[in-house]
Amino acid sequence: MVNEGNESTTWAILVAAGSGERLGSERPKAFVALGERVLLAESLERLDTSEWIDAVVVAVPADWEDATIALAEELVASKVAAVVTGGATRAESVRAALAQVPDEALVVIVHDAARPLVDDAVIERVILPLGEGYDGVVPALPLADTVKRVERGLVVETVDRSDLVTVQTPQAFTASALRAAYASEEPVAATDCASLVEARGGRIRVVEGDVRLLKITTGADLALVASWL
Ligand code: C5P
Repeated sequence: MVNEGNESTTWAILVAAGSGERLGSERPKAFVALGERVLLAESLERLDTSEWIDAVVVAVPADWEDATIALAEELVASKVAAVVTGGATRAESVRAALAQVPDEALVVIVHDAARPLVDDAVIERVILPLGEGYDGVVPALPLADTVKRVERGLVVETVDRSDLVTVQTPQAFTASALRAAYASEEPVAATDCASLVEARGGRIRVVEGDVRLLKITTGADLALVASWL
């Protein structure tokens, strides 16, 4: 199963170490059922078969490492190079996985297992602009609803939404920019990787996202994504 990785240049980090409390399941979110398989199987298989990706590192909750290795074997996911124990936050899980990415890697894609329906079209959209000198590329969608800032239940302001987007994964980075963003030993609470690269002055390009990359948070999200399989 282990990919030696020496000639691999594009690595994917699949973060799957969340608890998924809002799903109300006994199992971590990555291991709830989505269709006939566990949720993690969908994104793991899609990244593994992507022509853009050479190797994959998966971050999972403590005590789910062996189940993940077994799943990778069952899927014949031959690009899986490492399965690591995730951290207390998404950023800590990314950091643990990034430690397994070899120095030779040029590009690292980070993807949420909670967005199962990743495909090669969006992977291509986030990877290609890296060749134009950006530090990172994120898929995004415009906001459909009116946005208001609220304090203690009262509207303070209606925000102009014309230059606002919601940002998804997969997010692609030059390996050097992502490593620099995670270099500090401080625990980081960022909800995506791009925000850490931005904080260091990195240039992040925005490309078109995909409504099918909905992040599964609730049971209703799970049912909706299952209906798209
Ligand atoms: O919690 P949320 O759904 O925002 O998490 C986004 C992604 O980050 C999920 O795929 C989840 O498994 C992952 N995550 C993680 N480690 C954590 C928290 C979240 O890998 N401690």
